[in-house]
Amino acid sequence: MREGVPPEGAMPVTSSATVRAPGHVRRIVAHRVRRLRGAIRPRAKTEAPGLAEIPGDRPWQHKWNVLEVALAFAVANNIVGDYLEFGVYRGGSFIHAYRHHRQLFERYTLAHQARHTDDPFLRSKMRFFAFDSFEGLPASEQSEIPLHWRGDHAMSFSERRFLANLEAGGVDLTDVATVPGYYDISLTPDVGPRLGLTRAAVVNVDCDLGISTVPVLEFVEDFLVDGTVLIFDDWFYYRGHPGRGERGAFEAWLARHPELVASELMRLYPTVAFILNQREPG
Ligand SMILES: C[S@@+](CC[C@H](N)C(=O)[O-])C[C@H]1O[C@@H](n2cnc3c(N)ncnc32)[C@H](O)[C@@H]1O
Repeated sequence: MREGVPPEGAMPVTSSATVRAPGHVRRIVAHRVRRLRGAIRPRAKTEAPGLAEIPGDRPWQHKWNVLEVALAFAVANNIVGDYLEFGVYRGGSFIHAYRHHRQLFERYTLAHQARHTDDPFLRSKMRFFAFDSFEGLPASEQSEIPLHWRGDHAMSFSERRFLANLEAGGVDLTDVATVPGYYDISLTPDVGPRLGLTRAAVVNVDCDLGISTVPVLEFVEDFLVDGTVLIFDDWFYYRGHPGRGERGAFEAWLARHPELVASELMRLYPTVAFILNQREPG
Protein backbone atom coordinates (compact mmCIF):
# COMPACT_ATOMS: atom_id res chain seq x y z
CA MET A 1 0.00 0.00 0.00
CA ARG A 2 1.29 3.43 -0.85
CA GLU A 3 1.95 5.75 2.05
CA GLY A 4 -0.56 8.52 2.63
CA VAL A 5 -3.32 6.82 0.62
CA PRO A 6 -6.22 5.71 2.79
CA PRO A 7 -6.93 1.98 2.48
CA GLU A 8 -9.83 1.09 0.23
CA GLY A 9 -13.11 1.67 2.04
CA ALA A 10 -11.56 3.72 4.84
CA MET A 11 -12.67 7.22 5.74
CA PRO A 12 -10.06 9.84 4.82
CA VAL A 13 -8.51 10.96 8.07
CA THR A 14 -7.78 14.66 8.27
CA SER A 15 -6.76 14.94 11.89
CA SER A 16 -7.17 12.26 14.50
CA ALA A 17 -7.82 15.00 17.07
CA THR A 18 -10.83 16.42 15.24
CA VAL A 19 -12.31 13.65 13.03
CA ARG A 20 -12.62 10.06 14.16
CA ALA A 21 -13.90 7.31 11.88
CA PRO A 22 -16.81 5.28 13.24
CA GLY A 23 -15.86 2.16 15.25
CA HIS A 24 -16.73 -0.38 12.55
CA VAL A 25 -14.58 1.48 9.99
CA ARG A 26 -11.64 1.61 12.39
CA ARG A 27 -11.98 -2.13 12.98
CA ILE A 28 -12.01 -2.85 9.22
CA VAL A 29 -8.92 -0.68 8.70
CA ALA A 30 -7.10 -2.32 11.63
CA HIS A 31 -7.97 -5.75 10.25
CA ARG A 32 -6.63 -4.85 6.79
CA VAL A 33 -3.43 -3.43 8.21
CA ARG A 34 -2.86 -6.59 10.27
CA ARG A 35 -3.65 -8.72 7.23
CA LEU A 36 -1.14 -6.78 5.15
CA ARG A 37 1.47 -7.28 7.82
CA GLY A 38 0.88 -11.02 7.78
CA ALA A 39 -0.69 -11.42 11.24
CA ILE A 40 -3.91 -12.82 9.88
CA ARG A 41 -3.93 -15.94 7.79
CA PRO A 42 -5.38 -15.19 4.35
CA ARG A 43 -8.45 -17.15 3.39
CA ALA A 44 -7.49 -20.44 1.84
CA LYS A 45 -8.15 -20.92 -1.85
CA THR A 46 -10.66 -23.64 -1.01
CA GLU A 47 -12.78 -20.93 0.59
CA ALA A 48 -13.35 -19.31 -2.81
CA PRO A 49 -17.02 -18.76 -3.54
CA GLY A 50 -18.56 -21.72 -5.28
CA LEU A 51 -16.22 -24.34 -3.80
CA ALA A 52 -17.71 -26.57 -1.15
CA GLU A 53 -15.99 -26.91 2.22
CA ILE A 54 -14.08 -30.15 2.54
CA PRO A 55 -14.18 -31.78 5.99
CA GLY A 56 -10.68 -32.20 7.43
CA ASP A 57 -9.17 -29.63 5.07
CA ARG A 58 -8.75 -26.90 7.67
CA PRO A 59 -6.12 -28.39 9.95
CA TRP A 60 -5.11 -25.00 11.35
CA GLN A 61 -8.61 -24.62 12.80
CA HIS A 62 -8.39 -28.08 14.38
CA LYS A 63 -5.01 -27.34 15.93
CA TRP A 64 -6.38 -24.11 17.38
CA ASN A 65 -9.23 -26.09 18.95
CA VAL A 66 -6.73 -28.43 20.62
CA LEU A 67 -4.65 -25.47 21.73
CA GLU A 68 -7.70 -23.84 23.32
CA VAL A 69 -8.53 -27.04 25.21
CA ALA A 70 -4.93 -27.40 26.43
CA LEU A 71 -4.93 -23.83 27.76
CA ALA A 72 -8.35 -24.29 29.34
CA PHE A 73 -7.07 -27.45 31.04
CA ALA A 74 -4.08 -25.54 32.44
CA VAL A 75 -6.27 -22.74 33.79
CA ALA A 76 -8.96 -25.03 35.22
CA ASN A 77 -6.27 -27.08 37.00
CA ASN A 78 -4.45 -23.99 38.27
CA ILE A 79 -1.18 -25.08 36.68
CA VAL A 80 1.46 -22.42 37.18
CA GLY A 81 3.83 -22.39 34.21
CA ASP A 82 4.65 -20.91 30.84
CA TYR A 83 3.69 -21.56 27.22
CA LEU A 84 6.43 -22.99 25.03
CA GLU A 85 5.98 -23.29 21.28
CA PHE A 86 8.51 -25.15 19.16
CA GLY A 87 7.95 -24.08 15.56
CA VAL A 88 6.28 -20.68 15.42
CA TYR A 89 6.70 -19.70 11.75
CA ARG A 90 4.63 -16.52 11.17
CA GLY A 91 3.11 -16.56 14.65
CA GLY A 92 -0.43 -17.73 13.85
CA SER A 93 -0.83 -20.33 16.60
CA PHE A 94 1.40 -18.36 18.97
CA ILE A 95 -0.80 -15.25 18.75
CA HIS A 96 -3.89 -17.39 19.11
CA ALA A 97 -2.50 -19.06 22.24
CA TYR A 98 -1.60 -15.70 23.76
CA ARG A 99 -4.97 -14.07 23.14
CA HIS A 100 -6.95 -17.11 24.18
CA HIS A 101 -5.03 -17.57 27.40
CA ARG A 102 -5.28 -13.92 28.35
CA GLN A 103 -9.09 -14.10 28.01
CA LEU A 104 -9.40 -17.37 29.91
CA PHE A 105 -7.16 -16.21 32.72
CA GLU A 106 -8.85 -12.84 33.03
CA ARG A 107 -12.27 -14.47 33.29
CA TYR A 108 -11.04 -17.03 35.81
CA THR A 109 -9.37 -14.33 37.92
CA LEU A 110 -12.49 -12.17 37.95
CA ALA A 111 -14.54 -15.10 39.16
CA HIS A 112 -12.21 -16.18 41.97
CA GLN A 113 -9.97 -13.34 43.10
CA ALA A 114 -12.31 -12.02 45.76
CA ARG A 115 -12.05 -15.22 47.81
CA HIS A 116 -8.47 -16.22 46.86
CA THR A 117 -6.53 -12.97 46.65
CA ASP A 118 -3.13 -14.43 47.51
CA ASP A 119 -3.40 -17.69 45.63
CA PRO A 120 -0.12 -18.36 43.76
CA PHE A 121 -1.97 -19.35 40.58
CA LEU A 122 -3.99 -16.13 40.42
CA ARG A 123 -0.83 -14.15 41.13
CA SER A 124 1.14 -15.93 38.41
CA LYS A 125 1.53 -14.67 34.85
CA MET A 126 2.06 -17.02 31.95
CA ARG A 127 4.96 -16.07 29.70
CA PHE A 128 5.24 -17.11 26.08
CA PHE A 129 8.43 -18.68 24.67
CA ALA A 130 8.99 -19.00 20.93
CA PHE A 131 11.58 -21.50 19.70
CA ASP A 132 12.38 -21.50 15.99
CA SER A 133 15.29 -21.46 13.59
CA PHE A 134 13.53 -18.50 11.92
CA GLU A 135 15.18 -19.99 8.83
CA GLY A 136 12.68 -22.74 8.09
CA LEU A 137 12.90 -26.51 8.33
CA PRO A 138 16.28 -28.22 8.57
CA ALA A 139 17.41 -30.50 5.75
CA SER A 140 15.58 -33.81 5.72
CA GLU A 141 14.80 -36.65 3.35
CA GLN A 142 12.50 -34.90 0.88
CA SER A 143 10.81 -38.01 -0.45
CA GLU A 144 9.51 -38.81 3.05
CA ILE A 145 7.69 -35.53 3.68
CA PRO A 146 4.60 -34.05 2.04
CA LEU A 147 4.89 -31.50 -0.76
CA HIS A 148 4.01 -28.55 1.43
CA TRP A 149 7.11 -29.11 3.63
CA ARG A 150 9.57 -29.69 0.80
CA GLY A 151 12.17 -27.29 -0.54
CA ASP A 152 15.18 -25.46 0.69
CA HIS A 153 14.38 -24.22 4.22
CA ALA A 154 10.62 -24.48 3.75
CA MET A 155 8.62 -22.13 6.00
CA SER A 156 11.47 -19.71 6.51
CA PHE A 157 10.23 -16.56 8.27
CA SER A 158 12.51 -14.13 10.04
CA GLU A 159 12.41 -13.37 13.76
CA ARG A 160 11.92 -9.68 12.98
CA ARG A 161 8.80 -10.35 10.92
CA PHE A 162 7.52 -12.83 13.51
CA LEU A 163 7.79 -10.17 16.23
CA ALA A 164 6.12 -7.58 13.97
CA ASN A 165 3.21 -9.99 13.49
CA LEU A 166 2.94 -10.45 17.24
CA GLU A 167 2.79 -6.73 17.80
CA ALA A 168 0.21 -6.30 15.07
CA GLY A 169 -1.74 -9.13 16.67
CA GLY A 170 -1.93 -7.30 20.00
CA VAL A 171 0.70 -9.37 21.85
CA ASP A 172 2.61 -7.53 24.58
CA LEU A 173 6.21 -8.34 23.69
CA THR A 174 7.33 -7.98 27.29
CA ASP A 175 5.51 -11.29 27.88
CA VAL A 176 7.46 -12.99 25.09
CA ALA A 177 10.94 -14.49 24.76
CA THR A 178 12.38 -15.89 21.53
CA VAL A 179 15.08 -18.53 21.25
CA PRO A 180 16.36 -18.45 17.67
CA GLY A 181 18.32 -21.28 16.08
CA TYR A 182 18.10 -24.92 15.07
CA TYR A 183 17.18 -27.00 18.09
CA ASP A 184 20.21 -29.29 18.05
CA ILE A 185 22.29 -26.14 18.68
CA SER A 186 19.96 -23.65 20.40
CA LEU A 187 18.40 -25.85 23.12
CA THR A 188 21.23 -25.69 25.61
CA PRO A 189 21.02 -26.07 29.41
CA ASP A 190 21.61 -22.32 29.93
CA VAL A 191 18.38 -21.30 28.14
CA GLY A 192 16.17 -21.87 31.21
CA PRO A 193 18.32 -19.93 33.70
CA ARG A 194 19.05 -17.17 31.17
CA LEU A 195 15.39 -16.53 30.37
CA GLY A 196 13.87 -17.34 33.75
CA LEU A 197 12.09 -20.38 32.36
CA THR A 198 11.45 -22.93 35.11
CA ARG A 199 7.99 -24.47 34.54
CA ALA A 200 6.04 -25.36 31.41
CA ALA A 201 2.24 -25.50 31.62
CA VAL A 202 1.65 -26.03 27.90
CA VAL A 203 4.22 -27.19 25.33
CA ASN A 204 3.16 -26.91 21.70
CA VAL A 205 5.39 -29.03 19.45
CA ASP A 206 4.80 -27.88 15.87
CA CYS A 207 8.15 -28.52 14.22
CA ASP A 208 6.84 -31.18 11.85
CA LEU A 209 9.84 -33.52 11.73
CA GLY A 210 10.98 -36.36 13.97
CA ILE A 211 14.58 -35.12 13.87
CA SER A 212 13.40 -31.75 15.19
CA THR A 213 11.19 -33.25 17.93
CA VAL A 214 13.97 -35.37 19.50
CA PRO A 215 16.00 -32.42 20.94
CA VAL A 216 12.78 -30.61 21.89
CA LEU A 217 11.63 -33.45 24.16
CA GLU A 218 15.05 -33.76 25.78
CA PHE A 219 15.04 -30.02 26.41
CA VAL A 220 11.57 -29.81 27.98
CA GLU A 221 12.31 -32.55 30.51
CA ASP A 222 13.68 -29.95 32.93
CA PHE A 223 10.48 -27.89 32.87
CA LEU A 224 7.77 -30.51 33.23
CA VAL A 225 5.35 -30.15 36.13
CA ASP A 226 2.48 -32.33 37.28
CA GLY A 227 -0.12 -31.78 34.53
CA THR A 228 2.04 -30.23 31.80
CA VAL A 229 0.22 -30.56 28.48
CA LEU A 230 2.26 -31.65 25.48
CA ILE A 231 0.67 -30.93 22.11
CA PHE A 232 1.89 -32.61 18.94
CA ASP A 233 0.61 -30.68 16.00
CA ASP A 234 1.73 -33.12 13.32
CA TRP A 235 0.99 -36.46 14.96
CA PHE A 236 -0.50 -38.00 11.83
CA TYR A 237 2.19 -37.16 9.30
CA TYR A 238 4.53 -39.81 7.89
CA ARG A 239 1.31 -41.59 6.94
CA GLY A 240 0.50 -42.01 10.62
CA HIS A 241 3.42 -44.39 11.16
CA PRO A 242 3.78 -44.92 14.95
CA GLY A 243 7.57 -44.97 14.80
CA ARG A 244 8.12 -41.85 12.75
CA GLY A 245 7.80 -38.07 12.86
CA GLU A 246 6.68 -36.27 16.03
CA ARG A 247 4.80 -39.39 17.11
CA GLY A 248 7.83 -41.67 16.75
CA ALA A 249 10.03 -39.23 18.69
CA PHE A 250 7.46 -39.01 21.51
CA GLU A 251 6.92 -42.79 21.78
CA ALA A 252 10.71 -43.37 22.00
CA TRP A 253 11.14 -40.56 24.56
CA LEU A 254 8.26 -41.79 26.73
CA ALA A 255 9.70 -45.32 26.72
CA ARG A 256 12.87 -43.85 28.28
CA HIS A 257 10.77 -42.23 31.03
CA PRO A 258 8.90 -44.96 32.90
CA GLU A 259 8.40 -42.50 35.77
CA LEU A 260 5.97 -40.53 33.59
CA VAL A 261 2.46 -41.39 32.56
CA ALA A 262 0.88 -39.74 29.50
CA SER A 263 -2.91 -39.50 29.25
CA GLU A 264 -4.54 -38.33 26.08
CA LEU A 265 -6.36 -35.03 26.55
CA MET A 266 -7.66 -34.57 23.01
CA ARG A 267 -7.13 -35.60 19.43
CA LEU A 268 -8.41 -33.77 16.40
CA TYR A 269 -6.66 -34.49 13.14
CA PRO A 270 -3.76 -33.78 12.65
CA THR A 271 -3.10 -32.90 16.31
CA VAL A 272 -2.95 -34.85 19.58
CA ALA A 273 -2.44 -33.53 23.13
CA PHE A 274 -1.28 -35.43 26.22
CA ILE A 275 -1.24 -34.64 29.93
CA LEU A 276 1.95 -35.71 31.69
CA ASN A 277 1.96 -36.79 35.33
CA GLN A 278 4.41 -38.58 37.59
CA ARG A 279 3.54 -42.27 37.79
CA GLU A 280 2.27 -43.22 41.27
CA PRO A 281 4.65 -45.64 42.98
CA GLY A 282 3.53 -49.26 43.26
C1 LIG B 1 4.50 -25.64 10.62
S1 LIG B 1 5.59 -24.35 11.04
C2 LIG B 1 4.91 -23.76 12.56
C3 LIG B 1 3.53 -23.16 12.40
C4 LIG B 1 3.01 -22.40 13.60
N1 LIG B 1 3.08 -23.17 14.84
C5 LIG B 1 1.57 -22.01 13.38
O1 LIG B 1 0.68 -22.88 13.50
O2 LIG B 1 1.31 -20.85 13.08
C6 LIG B 1 7.05 -25.21 11.52
C7 LIG B 1 8.15 -24.34 12.08
O3 LIG B 1 9.09 -25.21 12.72
C8 LIG B 1 10.39 -24.67 12.59
N2 LIG B 1 11.35 -25.77 12.77
C9 LIG B 1 11.21 -27.05 12.34
N3 LIG B 1 12.27 -27.79 12.70
C10 LIG B 1 13.11 -26.96 13.40
C11 LIG B 1 14.38 -27.15 14.03
N4 LIG B 1 15.01 -28.32 14.02
N5 LIG B 1 14.92 -26.09 14.67
C12 LIG B 1 14.29 -24.89 14.70
N6 LIG B 1 13.09 -24.66 14.09
C13 LIG B 1 12.51 -25.69 13.44
C14 LIG B 1 10.38 -24.07 11.17
O4 LIG B 1 11.35 -23.06 11.04
C15 LIG B 1 8.94 -23.55 11.05
O5 LIG B 1 8.86 -22.18 11.38
